[in-house]
Amino acid sequence: MRARWGFVGRTAEFARLVEYGTGTAAAEVRGLVVGGVAGIGKSRLLREGVAVLDGDRVAVLAANATAATANLPFGGLAQVLPVDQPAGLTPAGLLRWAADTLRQQHRHRSIVLAVDDVHLLDPISAALVSYLVQSGHGTLLATVRSGETAPDPIRALWTSGTVERVDLGPLAESDTVSLLTQVLGDDIDAASVRRLWLLSEGNALLLRELVLAAHAAGEIIHEHGLWRWTGRLKLAPSLTEVVDARIGGLAPQVRTAVEYVAFGEPIGLSLLAAAGLAEAIELAEERQLVQLVADGRRTTVRLAHPLYGEVARQRCPATRARRLLARIAGLVEDTGARRNDDLLRVATWRLDSGTAHDPELLRRACQQAFASYDIPLATRLGRAALDTGGGFDASETLAILLMFAGRPDEAMNILDKAASLITSDRQQARWHTSRGITRYWGLGDESARDTVLAAAAALPDAADRVRVQAIEAMMRVHHNDQSRFAELLDEVLACPVAGVGHRALALSAAGHLRAARGQATRTMHEMAAVEADAAQWRGETPYFQLAVELARGTAMILVADLPAVDAVIAAEYAGMAETGDFHLGSGYLTVVRAQAARLRGQLGDAARYARLARARLIDGRIFTDLACAELAYAAALSGDADAAVAAMAEADEAHLPTMSILYPWLELARAWTVTAAGAPKDGLDVLRRLLDRLRADGFTGYAAYALHDLVLLGAPQEAAGPLARVAGQVDGAFAPVAARHARAAAAGDLSALLAVAAEFAALGLNLFAAEAATTAARLGRTSRSALTGEAMARRAEYLGACDPATRTPGLDLPMVRLTDRENQIARLAAAGTSSGDIANRLYLSRRTVDNHLLRIYGKLGVTGRNQLRHALRSAPPNATG
Ligand SMILES: Nc1ncnc2c1ncn2[C@@H]1O[C@H](COP(=O)(O)OP(=O)(O)O)[C@@H](O)[C@H]1O
Ligand SMILES: [Mg+2]
Repeated sequence: MRARWGFVGRTAEFARLVEYGTGTAAAEVRGLVVGGVAGIGKSRLLREGVAVLDGDRVAVLAANATAATANLPFGGLAQVLPVDQPAGLTPAGLLRWAADTLRQQHRHRSIVLAVDDVHLLDPISAALVSYLVQSGHGTLLATVRSGETAPDPIRALWTSGTVERVDLGPLAESDTVSLLTQVLGDDIDAASVRRLWLLSEGNALLLRELVLAAHAAGEIIHEHGLWRWTGRLKLAPSLTEVVDARIGGLAPQVRTAVEYVAFGEPIGLSLLAAAGLAEAIELAEERQLVQLVADGRRTTVRLAHPLYGEVARQRCPATRARRLLARIAGLVEDTGARRNDDLLRVATWRLDSGTAHDPELLRRACQQAFASYDIPLATRLGRAALDTGGGFDASETLAILLMFAGRPDEAMNILDKAASLITSDRQQARWHTSRGITRYWGLGDESARDTVLAAAAALPDAADRVRVQAIEAMMRVHHNDQSRFAELLDEVLACPVAGVGHRALALSAAGHLRAARGQATRTMHEMAAVEADAAQWRGETPYFQLAVELARGTAMILVADLPAVDAVIAAEYAGMAETGDFHLGSGYLTVVRAQAARLRGQLGDAARYARLARARLIDGRIFTDLACAELAYAAALSGDADAAVAAMAEADEAHLPTMSILYPWLELARAWTVTAAGAPKDGLDVLRRLLDRLRADGFTGYAAYALHDLVLLGAPQEAAGPLARVAGQVDGAFAPVAARHARAAAAGDLSALLAVAAEFAALGLNLFAAEAATTAARLGRTSRSALTGEAMARRAEYLGACDPATRTPGLDLPMVRLTDRENQIARLAAAGTSSGDIANRLYLSRRTVDNHLLRIYGKLGVTGRNQLRHALRSAPPNATG
């Protein structure tokens, strides 16, 4: 009997795969995912399809995800990612790096990602695949087992229609005939085929297992030039039962070999040989249980089907599984654990086998998992490092991790206990900074900055001192002690022994402050430079990334650079940050997302993101106030006063002096909350007080918003002068337009207002655009200007880009009176009814209807039916009635 089964059937699916692979399928769909039950033939189809792609035009990057790699960051894509992966990249940095490298390597070819068993991808690999596909870097060809849950970003690819999904059904009886004929090398009698086909239910793997079993039992016989199956099965066995029976019947050595592969996949052949399993692996390959794959210079062993691994692992008693894992870990350690992913693999095997005794190995693995923002895995490893006697270093690593995982109390506990373990000045310095970080940001204790200061002064070594100073500098910015910060910044930057990471931290603090002062463009440049050095600091201190994000997020929002927000949030960081439970990072970015949505007038999205951010941040003390303020803001702009007031109260409660630098966001939200609650004069006062404070702090960047809000809340005269001055001092396109808005509104200049509205709309600031156009329309009505119609049309257009729930004072427009009949006709026309149909329905002549419509357009200041709907929408029904 032949071992290799030639490929049969699946013509339609095969053709579709090849179409996607060669780029001849629909351009807007970026690939194909093949679903189906275990053994139905998905992997085979993928392999066959990919094999015929033209290697000169297409670069195929093939990965197969397995249970053994499903829990390791980037485990699933280890085969695809170049091995010289720079250390300590953020998920976003890794994305950029991977995409760039792949593009470089395959400059003249299109990239096809062929991922088998995509449901077993680890979360970070899944995010990477999703990014590569969505950003148009590659086409996805993948398989997924039905009934398994694929990671969210992957599932989203087919639920959103980005890639197509097809499900494989059973093989046809005729396919079964050709398969059996070629395997047996001669015809087989029809009754045997039928029985095998029915028993296997068209499942290729089950068919193969049945034939192998029948063959082994001598039940397949050759008579009169025809094969026949003499066996009888009363009940159709399930695939798992058949596989289970076969693996249960293996010789002990062969079973052991299969188990090694099941637990350690992908595992080097040389490793198995070192374990004395060379011969057993050969037998397992003969039995078609495993496959050898050439992988660069080494040969790797994989399971021939994942089900063999599932069964082998399930049959394996826990004690034996632990012994095996320990043995595999030992073998990999003996080879020197050179590969990038080996450190994490060995460490988790050690943990799972109860043989984790090397605290330094565990601590380094913890650090690596943290640098990939896999918080749960990092926590597990860090705890183990401490439990196995990791001493001070393990304590400190774990404490910082717990602090940023939202468990500062536990972090403090660990640090307190670690005090007695300190043996050097270096450790002393680290202890002080870690404790300072935990107390200041984790527990919201503002006095921590003074303690840290005192500790730094006492340290003899300049390098240690500067490390502590960089942390203190960050505290000073967040506390808004600007003069002390300036001193510290100078010291850190002037210190010749300051490390890259601590300089990066100090620069991020300075960038945040600079953005608040209106120099957002410079901040964005500097943060890009800091990120470029990231490989040198992120492995050690991945949480410094937060400082970069905060500076950049503040800068982007203050200049209302929405495309920049999209680039950072939607395309890159967020999807990755959301994997791995790094809630502080993803929480802050979600706030920025909410702010950007609000500026666009997408208040529903803004509220949704703000709520999501609040949920992520609620356990900690950092940025919770920001999330709640943003929620209040979105509610207030939607006219939901109760929700706004409640969220504002929550923001005030969460706001701490340790993060007082965030106060402008709270006050801006408060002005709108108070206004929504029916006290517009108080709203103006909130803004005036805020402006005084901003002036004292030099926060000109925020002043542009506060002054513009004065315009929106009806005080353009008051705002115009200062806003013109501010616009000359701050970066970005927003402030100059805001200043023109103030001047035009103060002067009652209708055409200037329309120009301003168009500028806002071009920046994506739809709500501001609609408000400017509303002011123009109001003016036009009272002055009976010829531009009223234009203003109404623009207002309707910009409002159409905002959330329907938007209700701000700036959008108020006293409605013109339509007669009952006009109202009736207007609503029918707005709903898309033709003049003829309206005429029939209302027993009027068509001409009368058209005359009415003309009058309605004139009254509402619109030019046609399309604008009618928006014009009516912004008018409460009773106002036109
Ligand atoms: N169309 C086919 N023609 C020949 N052999 C097939 C076909 N489909 C599947 N097989 C064989 O059946 C077995 C199971 O198929 P596989 O693709 O691994 O299943 P799945 O990935 O759906 O679990 C493999 O040995 C495979 O080579
Ligand atoms: Mg498969």
